[in-house]
Amino acid sequence: MSSTRRGFLKGILGTGAASAAATTLPGCAPDINPAPVTDVTASEQGTVDILVSRYPDLEPVGGALTVRVSGEQVPLLVVHSKDDGAPNDFSVLSSLCTHVGCPLGFDGKDVICPCHLSRFSATDGAVLQRPATVPLQTFAAEYNPNTGVLRINLRAGQSDFPAAVNGQVVFPLSQFPQLRDVGGSVTGVPSGYGKRIFVFRLQDGALSAVDSVCTHAFCEVNYREQEADLFCACHASIFTRDGAVTQGPATRPLKKFTVSETGDSVVLTGVA
Ligand code: FES
Ligand code: FES
Repeated sequence: MSSTRRGFLKGILGTGAASAAATTLPGCAPDINPAPVTDVTASEQGTVDILVSRYPDLEPVGGALTVRVSGEQVPLLVVHSKDDGAPNDFSVLSSLCTHVGCPLGFDGKDVICPCHLSRFSATDGAVLQRPATVPLQTFAAEYNPNTGVLRINLRAGQSDFPAAVNGQVVFPLSQFPQLRDVGGSVTGVPSGYGKRIFVFRLQDGALSAVDSVCTHAFCEVNYREQEADLFCACHASIFTRDGAVTQGPATRPLKKFTVSETGDSVVLTGVA
């Protein structure tokens, strides 16, 4: 691996993770490199504006840029996949491969991992070629052809799910009756937070609410109803519904939210 590539991995992953990724490299693919990196800051509302003309690596169709947002765990991969002068000319995805976390590049059609050549759809992050098996996360973004600005919204959520307002999410029990029942659960992405969360009514009747971001390498965990646990398909970490690790490689619990009950609602705080 070239010193340039090694330096890039250190810069984007940190020294330890870069070493781990580097030792897995069977040999770099000749024409595929991780997208160049830029550092940005998000607005208070969680939006990032990219003036495309400022980035020669992104401006032409087929271009790509790795965007590190201050305070965010996972860098973003911005790809210029079309040139229709339309809001969806660009796509924004997680920039780290779900196999073992190498930084990703773009060949003008697909997102490609230079480490072991996994291939992902630039449109929706779906796996097109293994060894990765877990799709990339996608992020809401809209390009304005009049201003040339791509706006990425890191806190976009589901319109049919309660929003996070001042870090609080309220679930009326009339709309979420499953939270009354032992074993009941709710999951979704609150606008204003932008990441999937889970709320559970546990066996002892207590409520638990946790984030979906795996603490190993930031893939998204999924709820397995039969096993009553949260499973990360990237490297098989398992967490309880209360967020505790029961199987590594993750070593830290999932982020937890404070849960309280009023007579007719379940209220989460700290969703920020
Ligand atoms: S890290 Fe192995 S294919 Fe991406
Ligand atoms: S990201 Fe590696 S186990 Fe979850």
